[in-house]
Amino acid sequence: MTTFNHRKYQAFPVLNMPNRQWPNNTITKAPEWCSVDLRDGNQALIEPMTVSQKRRYYELLLEMGFKQIEVGFPAASTMDFDFVRWLIEENKIPDDVTIQVLTQARESLIEKTFAALKGVKQAIIHVYNSTSTVQRELVFQKDRQGIIDIAVQGATWVKQHADANPGPRWQFEYSPESFSGTEMDFAVDICDAVNAVWEPTIEAPVIINLPATVEMSTPNVFADQVEWFCEHVKNRDTIKVSIHTHNDRGCAVAAAELAVMAGADRIEGTLLGNGERTGNMDIITMAMNLYSQGIDPELNLGDIDNIIATITECTQLPIHPRHPYVGELVYTAFSGSHQDAIKKCLDRREPGSSWNVAYLPIDPTDLNRTLKHVIRVNSQSGKGGIAYLLEQEYGVQLPRWLQIEFSGVVQQHSEATASELMTPQIWSLFKSTYGDNGLSYLLADYNVSHGNIDKVQAQLRDGDTVTSISGEGSGALTAFIEALKQHFDIEFDVINFNEHALSKGADADAIAYLQVKTATQSVIGVAIHNDILTASLTALLNAVSQLEPIKKIMAA
Ligand code: KIV
Ligand code: ZN
Repeated sequence: MTTFNHRKYQAFPVLNMPNRQWPNNTITKAPEWCSVDLRDGNQALIEPMTVSQKRRYYELLLEMGFKQIEVGFPAASTMDFDFVRWLIEENKIPDDVTIQVLTQARESLIEKTFAALKGVKQAIIHVYNSTSTVQRELVFQKDRQGIIDIAVQGATWVKQHADANPGPRWQFEYSPESFSGTEMDFAVDICDAVNAVWEPTIEAPVIINLPATVEMSTPNVFADQVEWFCEHVKNRDTIKVSIHTHNDRGCAVAAAELAVMAGADRIEGTLLGNGERTGNMDIITMAMNLYSQGIDPELNLGDIDNIIATITECTQLPIHPRHPYVGELVYTAFSGSHQDAIKKCLDRREPGSSWNVAYLPIDPTDLNRTLKHVIRVNSQSGKGGIAYLLEQEYGVQLPRWLQIEFSGVVQQHSEATASELMTPQIWSLFKSTYGDNGLSYLLADYNVSHGNIDKVQAQLRDGDTVTSISGEGSGALTAFIEALKQHFDIEFDVINFNEHALSKGADADAIAYLQVKTATQSVIGVAIHNDILTASLTALLNAVSQLEPIKKIMAA
């Protein structure tokens, strides 16, 4: 019997806000970013980062341009304490970067936090306590006032220790942890009470960080909460409203974006979203979302391969192949119609124009993904993608009639092998299907004499047997066609013929494609040669060698 029972759950209460404003707003600039990888992200890892991994990760965050970095919970972890000491003693904090440290609202922890920060030039002291109904009633078993007392006491100790340690530029941050599960009037009351202790000003604001510690509702409901909070909190202009969303419902990025529309100034999150349970808000995704809208994300994301390598090495967590923007498959089109659309948009794109390519929200080359990543071929693929790959890799410009033909060959092969085909495999398949595959006559030698009528004499080789043929016509190819027809006593028409150089330059190889039709058969031959006529005659021979009467002669 299943225990799966939706009646166990209840709908999250929504706020009555008929005059909500956030849906009318748009995001026009990047928020202030704060990375919490080294604290929230780290505390969720199966194996927390080693000292050297933390150092490496910190360097990455600096390279990416983060100006606020939560580096740990020094009072709770010796490793975090030592890491903060290393940052300060080794002078690893640039002047324009502020480290942030987390502490609970307990005096001994706050004291130790300040001890860890001795000698720092500037730092954010981040103090939190839980405020949601469930935490108050079931975990702490305190009423609202009891929870406010914890926060106010914590804020007071933080202020006292800051006053007792003058010199550094201290900034204070308070998180009503589990804000998203807190009644909004209470969230405002507790933050007002904390701010009454800290007395922020416009010049020296505090950070009030509103966490969706557990994501409990649709992102619009979270945005309502943030707008309601911003409207009702006292002295809003002395507060930086920060957002810290987790991804329990898979909407952490959306919730953070709507929260910015609802008035938030600052976003806490992690790279690729590592964090407790389903993770924190993914800063890379949110930053790339901004980028794709023409907004400078104010983070350096160009060297994405190095970013990914550092994150995965330090967290030991793999990246999902469909992770937004950075997953291995996110720019790949296997489907034929997608490949065709992408190829057409790219072919028609004017250099320097705005990005407007079907199926590709951003230009993959911005993140060092080449167009080879975009078009990959399996049994779902179509002619456009195959043609694109062959052209990119081998300079082959398949005529449309051959694209249609060859895509069927590729599809059959891919279905039979149940696998993706790489470009070299597609090329081999192409050559073995239409080129010299050991089953055709070889053009051993030929001679053309030009006049009113052109004449061709040629030797065809089949193993040790050499067959001489000759024919006349206007042009060498027509003369060769006549020679074949007469010698083998067959009728056929050349219904398609194309040729081109495979690259630029006088010594470039040429390729010829040719389709031959009889009453009962249609066959294709292709050949490459540095002499264009030889390529054409050989392509014809490769085609004609597949005709049943000729196959019979060769088999005899
Ligand atoms: O998720 C959370 O609420 C936190 C707080 C400590 C900010 O990580
Ligand atoms: Zn968190």
